[in-house]
Amino acid sequence: MFKMALANKVHRCLMHRGIFQQIRTIQTSHPTTAAAAEENVSEKPKRMKTFEIYRWNPEKPNEKPYMQKYEIDLNDCAPMVLDALLKIKNEIDPTLTFRRSCREGICGSCSMNIGGTNTLACISRIDDSSSKPCKIYPLPHMYVVRDLVPDMSNFYKQYTSIQPWLQRKNNEKPGNAQYLQDVSDRQKLDGLYECILCACCSTSCPSYWWNADKYLGPAVLMQAYRWIIDSRDEKTAERLDKLRDPFSVYRCHTIMNCTKTCPKGLNPGKAIAELKRLLSGLHNKPPPKLETAALHNQ
Ligand code: SF4
Ligand code: SF4
Ligand code: FES
Repeated sequence: MFKMALANKVHRCLMHRGIFQQIRTIQTSHPTTAAAAEENVSEKPKRMKTFEIYRWNPEKPNEKPYMQKYEIDLNDCAPMVLDALLKIKNEIDPTLTFRRSCREGICGSCSMNIGGTNTLACISRIDDSSSKPCKIYPLPHMYVVRDLVPDMSNFYKQYTSIQPWLQRKNNEKPGNAQYLQDVSDRQKLDGLYECILCACCSTSCPSYWWNADKYLGPAVLMQAYRWIIDSRDEKTAERLDKLRDPFSVYRCHTIMNCTKTCPKGLNPGKAIAELKRLLSGLHNKPPPKLETAALHNQ
């Protein structure tokens, strides 16, 4: 009895081994899709592209900033500039430093100057039609933390200064009722709320280059306007008064570099023009079409 059970077990083991051997043979005789793809890449003629990237390392303060060249085969790289940067970092030079997060134009961290334009690396296609190198610098006229990483401290400080949150006069207790907003009032925020604070516009503005300590720049001014024009916000006069000086807004000379460069297709130049109209009294903020206080008093 015991002998029979043992024989059965040995037989089953041999059967399994046979099956596994067959599977292994099938796997080795048919290359995997990844391997096949690799073969295809090596068969195609190479499409080499040069990337010239700004480098500076604060740990080597005596070394001046310089441009470093990297060669990439575009057959073996996804289509966006951020893909190329990640490939360089992962496969060629892990010391290359840059910011990125979402890789889909939402977080605003990968803003940099690519081929002379401030834009987001993750939504910029690599120009494979030209043999020219792709030159990449950090956002212009910013202090550099390292390589392509600019120091955003001043930009964020200026953003904080406009108090970018909803403010009411009587500080109702939260959770009692919704702040009402008519559809047409809500539409006034379109083209403003989509800003991802990438700073491409501010760092393309000549006025901001020269006066970044006192001029707020297009990105922050567009957000100031976003809260001023919001029908639910009741601190309009106070917000405008804070901007009433020769530098905060009036360094804008309507050159419109900001609007031209915005990778999200927004129009900060127009928002600043509206802000100037409100500041000068040429236009007044209309009263809200729906009154939240009425709801609270019910
Ligand atoms: S319109 Fe104003 S904010 Fe925009 S680039 Fe020109 S000066 Fe700068
Ligand atoms: S307006 Fe455009 S360029 Fe300027 S910070 Fe916002 S998304 Fe970036
Ligand atoms: S990685 Fe987020 S915008 Fe480019």
